[in-house]
Amino acid sequence: EAGKIADSLGYRAYVVGGFVRDLLLGQKNLDVDLVIEGDGPIFARRLAETFSGRVSVHEKFKTAVITLPSGFKIDVATARWEYYAYPAALPTVELSSLKLDLFRRDFTINTLAIKLNPGEFGQLVDFFGGLRDLKDGVIRVLHSLSFVEDPTRIFRAVRFSARYGFRIGRHTLDLLKGALKLNLVDRLSGRRLLNELRHILSERDPLPAIRQMAELDLLRFIHPDLKLTEEGEGLIKETEASLSWYRLQFGEENLKIWMVYLLSLFDRLDQKRFATALARLEIPEKKIRTLLEERGRLFRALEHFKKTHSISKSAIYRSLEGLSSEMLLYGLAKARDQASKQAITLFLRELRKVRPAITGQDLKKLGIPEGPIYKKILETVRDARLDGLVQNKEEELQLVH
Ligand code: CTP
Repeated sequence: EAGKIADSLGYRAYVVGGFVRDLLLGQKNLDVDLVIEGDGPIFARRLAETFSGRVSVHEKFKTAVITLPSGFKIDVATARWEYYAYPAALPTVELSSLKLDLFRRDFTINTLAIKLNPGEFGQLVDFFGGLRDLKDGVIRVLHSLSFVEDPTRIFRAVRFSARYGFRIGRHTLDLLKGALKLNLVDRLSGRRLLNELRHILSERDPLPAIRQMAELDLLRFIHPDLKLTEEGEGLIKETEASLSWYRLQFGEENLKIWMVYLLSLFDRLDQKRFATALARLEIPEKKIRTLLEERGRLFRALEHFKKTHSISKSAIYRSLEGLSSEMLLYGLAKARDQASKQAITLFLRELRKVRPAITGQDLKKLGIPEGPIYKKILETVRDARLDGLVQNKEEELQLVH
């Protein structure tokens, strides 16, 4: 359909980048990127109309995002002929605007395009040898300034290489190391660095990429003391295990998986360095304070669980109350002894949902004057309920009496 619309407007339409790469690799990819030789926004509006989708247009950059009723998203970019007006001496036939658009990209495996116009539908366009690199399993840049132009590509190279088990080409690796020598990563904003890290830690299995970051000595850009030890690798594996357990129990449930891995990756940093690393990533100060406070509490809880023989449910509750699921799952991965692991799983599965059956209203009816005492009473009742001392509302009311 996209091809027909392009034809009717006198444009050419291509699907490009990650979608084509993953299509050829037989992997799932739900992000469709289109490049239009013509006017992207005009095309996007037509396409959205045809599929009753919504469209949001960025007229200045001639880009658009179409959201179909199913939630499926299509990115549309423009490669304009007139934009790339080249001197007559250059072989302009060769320099199609699509080629120039693709030349700006990171790696050859991301430069493949497929034509969508009906006459040529399905034709693969491969200007830079992407197909061969895809077959050989090589990550290769298009030109020697690639990492200098955009140092986030250093992390992207690691991510793609780890994800697909590809190697980084020799020349590309030299260029990458050259960029590292120049400390170009230091110039990346925290926001961009975090974005790359988040992508890496959101991979299905982030360990290979983390290992590769450590091998290339990339972790120092997050914090000079950040290292990956053998013990650290163990913790990442434990993190994976605790996340699988959580998924089985609760499904995805808008858990920030990357955050659990980040906490594990930062495990060996003391609180001060932990805060410095988060600040480098431009995590907002308020969020850093929360994470510090929760992390401190988690560490104390783990110490407490390790030392205490048979701990009551109410004591577990009080130790872990209010900690985010991410922090708890990091704690579950970090806990060595069975008792601590059991305490955290029990809290996640059952305890954290427990509330007393009585409410403030009931206390009011009993004639108790309102005030901070209410919180105290309700907490005591909750503890009693957790420890099985009361089991229903009547028993709770009796306890209050
Ligand atoms: N790109 C780039 N340089 C960057 C980021 C992106 O050249 N720093 C290009 C890549 O060629 C990529 C395209 O922009 O194909 C889209 O980027 P993105 O959606 O991040 O990448 P995908 O290849 O789709 O990767 P993923 O599978 O992780 O979504």
